[in-house]
Amino acid sequence: MNAIDPGFQAARRRTFAIISHPDAGKTTLTENLLLAGGAIRAAGAVRARGEARRTRSDWMKIERERGISVSASVMTFEHEDRIINLLDTPGHEDFSEDTYRTLTAADSAVMVLDAAKGIEPQTLKLFEVCRLRDIPILTFINKLDREAQDPFALLDEIRERLALEPAPMQWPAGSGQRFRGVLDLAADAFIPFKRPEPGEEFQRPLPIAFSGNSIAQWLTSEEAQELRETAQLAREGMAPFSLQNYREGHLTPVFFGSALRRFGVAELLDGLAQLAPAPRAQALAGGGAPIGPEREEVSGFVFKIQANMDPKHRDRVAFFRVCSGRFQRGMTLKTANGRAMHVHNPMMFLAQEREIAEEAFPGDVIGLPNHGVLRVGDSLSQSGTIAFKGIPNFAPEILRRCRVRDPLKQKHLKKALDGLAEEGVTQVFRPVLGSDAIIGAVGALQFDVLEERVRAEYGLDVLFEQSPYQAARWVSSESRADLEAFVEKSKNQIAEDLDGAPVFMAKSAWEVSYVAEKNPKIRFGNVKERV
Ligand code: G4P
Repeated sequence: MNAIDPGFQAARRRTFAIISHPDAGKTTLTENLLLAGGAIRAAGAVRARGEARRTRSDWMKIERERGISVSASVMTFEHEDRIINLLDTPGHEDFSEDTYRTLTAADSAVMVLDAAKGIEPQTLKLFEVCRLRDIPILTFINKLDREAQDPFALLDEIRERLALEPAPMQWPAGSGQRFRGVLDLAADAFIPFKRPEPGEEFQRPLPIAFSGNSIAQWLTSEEAQELRETAQLAREGMAPFSLQNYREGHLTPVFFGSALRRFGVAELLDGLAQLAPAPRAQALAGGGAPIGPEREEVSGFVFKIQANMDPKHRDRVAFFRVCSGRFQRGMTLKTANGRAMHVHNPMMFLAQEREIAEEAFPGDVIGLPNHGVLRVGDSLSQSGTIAFKGIPNFAPEILRRCRVRDPLKQKHLKKALDGLAEEGVTQVFRPVLGSDAIIGAVGALQFDVLEERVRAEYGLDVLFEQSPYQAARWVSSESRADLEAFVEKSKNQIAEDLDGAPVFMAKSAWEVSYVAEKNPKIRFGNVKERV
């Protein structure tokens, strides 16, 4: 085995993303993972990252104006001979389809739950995308330093709402003011929690034998007794950890801690390094044997495009996930439809900087600057014969009618909307009856990006208006006749997506379930897989 062997290098890599609801602690955890992994030295660097980038680059106008990060970046660091790639999934206002797409480039995910709140709506949505691709999930229950829900209730919620078997790796002793630490269930070792004094340097606490005498230093005899009993109940009542079940996406190992107090983060990172899967073989469009990472030929796919808003610089950066081979700077890669591109200046994303990547291996993500040649979902390989299964489309959660201010520019508008939908900025739905296009997005920011780009690149002023619809579902059926009959009878609520596929436009989420119930032979999909 040597350092340039793609199989050897792939086996060292762990590429993952964090899924969570806003405010559960993703940013804090990211920062502390980077600290634990030695990638950054000072707390505050992750938040400061956006700041530094804004002053350094003219990435995107909106990004600067609003002071938010539109770009999901990649943070790479080494931990115990593993190379960890953390793909940032934009949340809050910059939640968008890119957040979902990023998950398709990850081999595993860490689900962060706020211990007081449990599973929240956005966790659930992101979880569904993981499930779609059988992405294994490690769970981190955060904010134990605050008053938390009962851990049994939290684990039951995971089991019931996600249909995912929770396997606690640790068991917490109390929460909030009474939080004392966690018991490592396999090692029967207690990891004590100590609130650091102001200015005190953080030190990773050493585990202590739970049965030994020194436990009395950390727990009163009542606390020790309670922990012994609850941990025993957890051992007996909860699923034991199984690597296979985790890797297949049926079971989630659960860790507890406090990202803010840096407690449990190093243990989570160890768990990730030991349990999370190395880069997986990737499925091909149209079936056939998946492409394994050890294959010599370089291949990969584009999961996200970031555009520069400056109209004078129509450059884009395509985020490219390497799936096989050893990529080297200067290589020529081809899309599955034969377009060749010479990759001179691929970018690598480090915790705080962007750098030129000299080489990359399966599991890595590099940025490919281009002038709009690459699209979301494009496969690239040396031979140009590899086409991976595409990135799915996700049902939009916000729909708006789109009009151009100058009525003579209708045709231009169509071209602009189609072009930007092809690039994956937003989705476009054309009602079969009626003229105005309906734009769909999963995050409000996508409309701002669309508006800016339509103006900058096509010179059009557009207006977004409330749409009569609130939900869109791709309709399909085993029987073509059934589908045609449904489309015909629901004509005034049918639109076509960019590929001409029929979409049912509903006035409310309730209407979707109502119509679905009335039409059992029709599937109402909230994801469109691209083959
Ligand atoms: P997000 O990226 O998932 O949206 O969450 P973020 O890390 O920004 O955390 C949201 C809030 O929760 C922050 O507080 C953060 O400090 C706090 N937090 C995160 N982890 C923990 C934890 O383990 N314990 C406690 N007690 N709080 C935690 P904020 O007041 O909104 O922001 P800030 O002023 O602290 O930056």
